Amino acid sequence: MPSFTQDEATHYDSRIERLVPGYQLLHELVQAQLQTLLPEQAQILIVGAGTGKEVLQLAESNPNWTFIVQDVSDDMLAIADQNFTNLGLSSRVTIHSGPLSPGQYQADIALCLLVMHFVADDGAKLALLESIHSNLKPGKHLLLADLMKPETQFERESQLKHCRAMGLTHIGEERMRHNLEHEFYPLDRMRLAELLDESGFSTAQMFFKALGFSGLACIRQ
Ligand SMILES: C[S@@+](CC[C@H](N)C(=O)[O-])C[C@H]1O[C@@H](n2cnc3c(N)ncnc32)[C@H](O)[C@@H]1O
Repeated sequence: MPSFTQDEATHYDSRIERLVPGYQLLHELVQAQLQTLLPEQAQILIVGAGTGKEVLQLAESNPNWTFIVQDVSDDMLAIADQNFTNLGLSSRVTIHSGPLSPGQYQADIALCLLVMHFVADDGAKLALLESIHSNLKPGKHLLLADLMKPETQFERESQLKHCRAMGLTHIGEERMRHNLEHEFYPLDRMRLAELLDESGFSTAQMFFKALGFSGLACIRQ
């Protein structure tokens, strides 16, 4: 997977919108759903929060919401931390570096956006879902977004065309082509359903689809 350290972290915010079709819309749709689902006071667990996009998008929706911002890359979290300081949000944020411990938090909702496709399906995806399950209150939602296995033969190629249209260079396109084939661990819907079932989540409902990327909502049983 990409390392999400050093230059990859520094350039993340300027590159991601070129790489993920509908990246801003995805975050807006997550925001709309949280505004519908969450009460006045709520704790939001963000797994793989990167540079803090979710918090930047959600913080204005409700000043009482607080955030656990988790990631495995300290370089991404350092940028997130600086963003929160700049915007005066630090008092509402707990930054968590590294894996979550079982039952450490009791969140009212969990987000795991554009993360799990970087995790191998060798027990690690299941472990990630189980760790989210144990840090989320029963009956609460998990919103996932991931690159899925292609559903048509022209989907991946179209994604690369879209990247170019969004301003990605030819070299960037070739790197993305390589990454799509070798650095992601996309699931098909059947395997995702199995993993969700095994880790104690309901069947997922799709709320977003942009070429290979899907946004899915499920409930912790
Ligand atoms: C594409 S970025 C997504 C960041 C953010 N969620 C967003 O929407 O912009 C993927 C992030 O997942 C993190 N990541 C990768 N594997 C992870 C894991 N097993 N647990 C938590 N975070 C992980 C990476 O360090 C990176 O910051």
